[in-house]
Amino acid sequence: MRRVLVTGGAGYIGSHTCLELLNAGFEITVVDNLSNSTQESLQRVSTLTGKEIAFFEVDLLDARGLDAVFSKGNFETVIHFAALKAVGESVAQPLQYYQNNVTGTVNLCQAMQKHGVTDLVFSSSATVYGIPKSLPLTEQSETLIHEVTNPYGRSKLMVEFVLKDWQTAFPSMNIALLRYFNPVGAHVSGLIGEDPSGLPNNLLPYVSQVAVGKLEKLGVFGDDYETSDGTGVRDYIHVVDLAVGHVLAVKKLSENPGVVIYNLGTGIGYSVFQIIAAFEEASGRNIPFEIMPRRAGDIAACFADPSLAKRELGWTANRGIQEMCVDGWRWQSNNPNGYS
Ligand code: NAD
Ligand code: UD1
Repeated sequence: MRRVLVTGGAGYIGSHTCLELLNAGFEITVVDNLSNSTQESLQRVSTLTGKEIAFFEVDLLDARGLDAVFSKGNFETVIHFAALKAVGESVAQPLQYYQNNVTGTVNLCQAMQKHGVTDLVFSSSATVYGIPKSLPLTEQSETLIHEVTNPYGRSKLMVEFVLKDWQTAFPSMNIALLRYFNPVGAHVSGLIGEDPSGLPNNLLPYVSQVAVGKLEKLGVFGDDYETSDGTGVRDYIHVVDLAVGHVLAVKKLSENPGVVIYNLGTGIGYSVFQIIAAFEEASGRNIPFEIMPRRAGDIAACFADPSLAKRELGWTANRGIQEMCVDGWRWQSNNPNGYS
């Protein structure tokens, strides 16, 4: 049995990963400051699995509080989700983002070092690739900090550097940098899912709130990109496939690989129009939309070459776009107001 500390475990991807970890027989502890989540998500994970989750409401910026959690836990691995993630907000509040995402991670590393915890899985993002020079993106594709289009994305790339430098200095550390593409959908139970606060920034939560009648219509940000139908193309990945990737990454770290980097995506890109059509089919609802100007910082297309994760982790995303939409719709229609 491996004991895993999950930071940000009450959030969207964290809660789905907690469920998969518990089902795979891991013992888990969650630290979360609940700045973008509620404990209800973890209660539902406990209901679904019939297993307990130790929970500490602690901020990663509170180094003493974090130290106390490590003193109680005897963890073997840490999965680090806790971060702020709203791109627009990061442009308006860059210091808050660097403090929370970078300093928070440094505090976490210091606590791990003090308590002799060597294995870390980090939530990175395809945003570190900036403007792709060629597609699909492999782990070798360039990551240039000045080409990342916003402070949120830069905080992710900075943390990648922090973790690599740390591992160079302490080679007994094992670190997995997981670069997620576009996580969507929800657990098949419809009990846990994404619960954005305020107006959703991302496509799928916006589309599902239009479908459920909370929002009037979708704005499509540009129909003049060099893509098959002119709208932006992304590699959407079912959140449960992503969660399973974390379980496999934790297992991989027990082989002492040092630093490993994996793209977690499907390798398939869908346009905004294709997503609208798939969600209309899944929900049986009409999704009215209006063409708007391009969103600042957006790229035309982005999708992964996920073959390294397949070779080294034995991981593939096997839930397709229809399942992503059907599961996302089940969550949205059963919980029109999220967890509240
Ligand atoms: P989320 O906001 O649902 O989850 C993040 C959790 O971290 C929340 O529960 C929040 O309360 C907590 N948190 C934030 N700052 C904290 C702090 N200082 N101390 C303790 N807890 C803190 O987001 P998510 O979508 O589940 O994303 C999880 C991770 O994956 C993040 O690191 C995010 O940057 C990364 N990521 C997400 C996406 C995406 O599209 N959702 C894509 C790529 C990468
Ligand atoms: C966004 C973030 C990225 C982050 C990722 C997480 C920006 C500029 N980038 O990327 O840093 O890692 O989310 O998943 O915010 N779209 C619409 N209307 C909407 C919303 C989106 O047309 O209301 C379009 C976008 O232009 C894009 C596609 O839908 O072509 C996907 O958008 P989104 O879900 O926000 O993801 P990303 O742009 O990939």
